[in-house]
Amino acid sequence: MAKLVIQGRNKLKGRVKIGGSKNSSVAIIPAVLLGDGPSTLENVPAIRDVQVFAQILKDLGALVSLNQNTMTISPNGFASHVAPYDLVRKLRASYYLMGVLLAKFGKAEVGLPGGCDIGPRPIDQHLKGFKALGAAVSLEGGVVRLHANKLQGAPIYLDIPSVGATINIMLAACMAEGTTLIENAAKEPHVVDLANCLNAMGARIHGAGTDIIRIRGVKSLKGTSHSVIPDDIESATYMMAAVATAGDVEVEGVITKHLEPVVAKLREAGASIEQNGDYIRVIGPERPDPVNVKTLPYPGFPTDAQQPLTAMLTRARGVSVIHESVYENRFGYVSELIKMGANIKVQGKTAVVEGTSRLVGSPVRATDLRAGASLMVAGLSAEGTTEVYGLEIIERGYESVVEKLKGLGADVRRVED
Ligand code: UD1
Repeated sequence: MAKLVIQGRNKLKGRVKIGGSKNSSVAIIPAVLLGDGPSTLENVPAIRDVQVFAQILKDLGALVSLNQNTMTISPNGFASHVAPYDLVRKLRASYYLMGVLLAKFGKAEVGLPGGCDIGPRPIDQHLKGFKALGAAVSLEGGVVRLHANKLQGAPIYLDIPSVGATINIMLAACMAEGTTLIENAAKEPHVVDLANCLNAMGARIHGAGTDIIRIRGVKSLKGTSHSVIPDDIESATYMMAAVATAGDVEVEGVITKHLEPVVAKLREAGASIEQNGDYIRVIGPERPDPVNVKTLPYPGFPTDAQQPLTAMLTRARGVSVIHESVYENRFGYVSELIKMGANIKVQGKTAVVEGTSRLVGSPVRATDLRAGASLMVAGLSAEGTTEVYGLEIIERGYESVVEKLKGLGADVRRVED
């Protein structure tokens, strides 16, 4: 295990280049297995989740090469419909193999996914979608088994706009017979990125980014080249770290549209923000103003940015109220912030954060990816030394995090524990 050791209170200053989106990558990497030929993906972030997925694809028989941020995937040799359980359990997004294997082979065996421990995360909407397309679905001993002689397009109404279910149904339906309609679909940027990639492979997907996605099945897909969109949550984390440290940071290579809810809240917190083309500059006030936030599906405020935002607000001049509406239980990390002197009360899905002028560095543990991001932001703004145990968890989703923070003037180092 490694830890991130932070000597806090340096004001972050400078530019940071944002990497490719984790959530897009983990959908697009398995998706290109549906092509008849090789695909090249650019701007793939160098993060653990991507490495795990590359290994899963190799275990399934695909040829994969990863050179810095470029990944080539050739489905030649991809012949197994059984996903390797020991790897699948490390990665929540491994559930996308269900849609891919079902579309490719008419059958799939995939263990229930792992990923962050942030409360119950059912996959009933995914399974409902597969059933509607004509698949037999069984769940035994933690393994989902899917089988269909033929997939047939169908209308599918999602009870909640689940990102994972929307993507899995798109994957399963793009080579089904006839038309599939996903109603109440998720609109997140990575849903659109995946649809663009699949369309470049020959799929006929319309409406991604709206509530209704129409998929006309095609007989086959080909390989393609695709550049992954920038990571909005990585961007949001550095923007919040800038405010938490009263710094001046430019996040480069972003799609500003994807960050509108974050920019709006940081402005409310008193940050001065300039944006142009593909960069956003954030200048933090000495201490942020309090803000109230409710997490929502896109284009609402993203749940994945809730934790670093909470850390930032621990130093606000006043009381902020944060309501988590996407997940049942996403405040587990708060007890670690309290160890650092934060004044936070959680009741159900709401956290009330009373700002304090001073956080104090201490040893804390990252229990999931965004919890780790939160502790990192808190450590950067705290007095003294913070040790964030479980740096590997942060590295699941943040590319070169130690180097990027050092580039902004933070006093941070990686220590093998
Ligand atoms: C994706 C993101 C994750 C982000 C989340 C919400 C990836 C790899 N992960 O996760 O970072 O936090 O979107 O923006 O893209 N739900 C059900 N039944 C289902 C599916 C979901 O009840 O079948 C519930 C979940 O428990 C959760 C909510 O719906 O409370 C949202 O989940 P969903 O949008 O599916 O998130 P993920 O795809 O798992």
